[in-house]
Amino acid sequence: MADHRSFFLDDDLHDYVIAHTTPADPVRRSLTEATAALGRWAGMQVADDQAALLSTLVAAVRPTLAVEIGTFTGSSSLAIARALPSGSRLLCCDVSEEWTAIARHHWEAAGVDDRIDLVIAPALETLQGLGDAVVDFAFIDADKTGYLAYYEELVPRLSPHGLLAIDNVLWSGRVLDETAQDDDTVALRALNDRIVADNRVEVVMLSVGDGLTLVRRT
Ligand SMILES: C[S@@+](CC[C@H](N)C(=O)[O-])C[C@H]1O[C@@H](n2cnc3c(N)ncnc32)[C@H](O)[C@@H]1O
Repeated sequence: MADHRSFFLDDDLHDYVIAHTTPADPVRRSLTEATAALGRWAGMQVADDQAALLSTLVAAVRPTLAVEIGTFTGSSSLAIARALPSGSRLLCCDVSEEWTAIARHHWEAAGVDDRIDLVIAPALETLQGLGDAVVDFAFIDADKTGYLAYYEELVPRLSPHGLLAIDNVLWSGRVLDETAQDDDTVALRALNDRIVADNRVEVVMLSVGDGLTLVRRT
């Protein structure tokens, strides 16, 4: 089983966090098993506690349109879709037919497939095709070097009560390691610096999972 926990928590504290978070239901457990069978890729999956957080945020925001960048096998999209009010839509962006086939199967099992539009294409193209659509909730969890472009497409479209959530902003702590100069780490540092200096938004960086930034327009 892949280790999805917050990288700075020891085993006992991690177990305590999970024991005090709403447990995964059978569909989510099945999804975690199907994803684990992918081997090393399974580490990309959003963990159960972060999925619960996404559901809570979506239930509070009550989006009409939600957007997800990076669907993989469907953990975060399942969490978002289940918390959507009736009549709302979730636009999922990914480039992999193979991985999102697992997502589709579990959306059907959970009875949320009817509210999800999956577009298989580079996410930047999909976002640019949104025109003047208003987005109430967005979750970015795809290629790290693309995050800044996704952010710049999404912020102007965020509704006044909207929320943008961005995953992996701590990158297992590498954002602080000056010897780490790979493209992903450099991109995430630049993104984090850009957001906190952006006077269009208010931002809070949470240390859940691999770091989750929440952005709202001011
Ligand atoms: C970290 S995984 C997403 C995990 C997912 N949110 C979950 O809950 O399991 C990243 C995903 O981004 C997708 N991806 C990578 N580059 C992309 C791009 N340019 N446009 C859209 N999706 C992309 C990958 O195919 C992969 O499924």
